[in-house]
Amino acid sequence: MTAISFEGRVVIVTGAGQGLGRNYAQAFAARGARVIVNDLGGSFKGEGADVSVAQSVTDAIKAAGGDAIANTDSVEQGHRIVQSALDCYGRIDVVVNNAGIVRDAAFHKMSQEDWEQVIRVHLSGAFQVTRAAWPHMRAQGYGRVVMTSSGAGLYGNFGQANYSAAKLGLYGLAQSLAIEGVSKNILVNTIAPVSASRLIAAVMPADLAAALKPEFVTPLVLYLSSEYCKVAAQILEVGGGCVARLRWERSNVVSFDSQSGFSPEDIAASWETMQQFPGNDYPTTIADCFGPVRRKLADQLDLKPKH
Ligand code: NAI
Repeated sequence: MTAISFEGRVVIVTGAGQGLGRNYAQAFAARGARVIVNDLGGSFKGEGADVSVAQSVTDAIKAAGGDAIANTDSVEQGHRIVQSALDCYGRIDVVVNNAGIVRDAAFHKMSQEDWEQVIRVHLSGAFQVTRAAWPHMRAQGYGRVVMTSSGAGLYGNFGQANYSAAKLGLYGLAQSLAIEGVSKNILVNTIAPVSASRLIAAVMPADLAAALKPEFVTPLVLYLSSEYCKVAAQILEVGGGCVARLRWERSNVVSFDSQSGFSPEDIAASWETMQQFPGNDYPTTIADCFGPVRRKLADQLDLKPKH
């Protein structure tokens, strides 16, 4: 297979000052991309700012012969990041929404500010950057967007109600953008990474941290950001050398008699049936979401078009 190249492409990586984003930015640049290295440079809680964080990655890329500019705006002002790309390189092809913070607290101790700031950076930040890039991608008939979700969003995690909500929200955002973007060759996909970067390295044994290098997430992000990627609306778990796609699965459908009605006791009586998965029903679209209802109503009603 021909090597995947980003020659001629302009790539925004948010939160590219360290951790996963830094590794992505350097890998994109090594394959010919012109990279907007965005990073606010704050603490892991999103406090403060440090322009040297984005600049040091940009310097490293340039020292290695690559092309990059530093941008130190918060993703909350996504239009400024996209404007940097347009001012400097005149186009935007790829957005990797990666910037993130954590403000963990058990739910009963979580402040309004901790809730809102995590939603603002992860979910609204990705919205702001992607929305600013979107018209340019539509106009050129090409774009690739990667959202960064998390196992905490997919499965929940103690003390991360704000982060979980934002991270699953990003998946929902990606799914609708994937539907809207595909006709213009804008493909949107989501990753749920695991990597020993600063958000979790401190609480990990050193050998485990070494096995979870950002380098093991980067190949998937570059693939999803490339012309070779032809899929949209996928979510993939990635880390430690493993990559896997996730999907929804529907259990046995329990169909009650809607004419006579049914009770909470009927739900209780059929609960076990409803917990079993036949293994052949994997809804992927909103139409599939209503599939069982449509099939049930088709048995009861004449849903054929009238001529
Ligand atoms: P990190 O803390 O090493 O890097 C995140 C970067 O985002 C930092 O450089 C920070 O300065 C930047 N940032 C924070 N707020 C910003 C803002 N408002 N505007 C611009 N930049 C901002 O984190 P890591 O581990 O590399 O995570 C990257 C992404 O992957 C995050 O979205 C995180 O939630 C997600 N993730 C990471 C996992 C992991 O195992 N490391 C697990 C699941 C998801």
